[in-house]
Amino acid sequence: QEKCILTGTWRNDLGSNMTISAVNEAGQFSGLYLTAVSAAEKPILVSPLNGSQHIDDLGQPTFGFTVTWSFSVSTTVFVGQCFVDDQGKETLQTMWLLREKVKSAEDNWKATTVGTNVFTRINGQNV
Ligand code: BTN
Repeated sequence: QEKCILTGTWRNDLGSNMTISAVNEAGQFSGLYLTAVSAAEKPILVSPLNGSQHIDDLGQPTFGFTVTWSFSVSTTVFVGQCFVDDQGKETLQTMWLLREKVKSAEDNWKATTVGTNVFTRINGQNV
């Protein structure tokens, strides 16, 4: 079976795109994220991401990355696993936590949202 490679450009079920650059020997990577949706009332801009994956001989590694949004004061963390099927088609199955900034600790209860995203590879395009 083919191995699932994180490097490249991906699109999720919301229409958001991300490009992950080379993964180093320690499993660390960086990239760029262009979200299709936002909770912030601001024009959307490309934002940096940083993460790491397990170096997995069997080829379907778990990973995590953080997007520090460049156009808002929020932060999102994603965790997931890279899967590859018998046809070699790769998918990233992820869950995320989006932390928004609130005025004080009294508002902390409403500051974090959770969700899932599925990413598939897109070719010949970068974020
Ligand atoms: C913000 O709203 O302040 C920044 C944009 C957040 C976009 C979220 S992150 C989780 C979900 N998956 C996406 O691709 N976009 C949304």
